[in-house]
Amino acid sequence: MDAGFERVALVDELDEGVPFSIDLSTDEQICLVRFNGEVYAISNTCSHADFPLSDGEMVEDYIIECGLHGAQFDVRDGRAVELPATEPVACYDVKIEGGEVWVRSNV
Ligand code: FES
Repeated sequence: MDAGFERVALVDELDEGVPFSIDLSTDEQICLVRFNGEVYAISNTCSHADFPLSDGEMVEDYIIECGLHGAQFDVRDGRAVELPATEPVACYDVKIEGGEVWVRSNV
C-alpha cells in the first residue's frame, strides 16, 4: 500500500449509508461512509461548531447532515452544501483492497 495509508476497517463492517467514526494513528478523526459501492472519508469534525459528523446521518445521496445544527456536506469532496456551515471539511483518500478500507493521512 502507498505511503501514508493505514488500514481502518473492513468494508463488511460498514453499513450502507451509516456514518462510522475512526481515528488515524496521526489523531486525525475521520467519518467513514459506505455508499453506492464506494467508501468515503471526511473529517469527523463539523466545520460549523466541531460536532462529530458521525453522529449525524445521510439525508440524500452522498449528503451527510450534522446532528447539531443541520449543516450538510458532500462526502465525495467535503464541501458544505447547506448552512450554517460555509467552510468545507477535509476530505481523505480511500483505497479498498481485499475487502479492507485504507485511508491516507492528510498530515
Ligand atoms: S456543529 Fe455542525 S451544524 Fe453546527
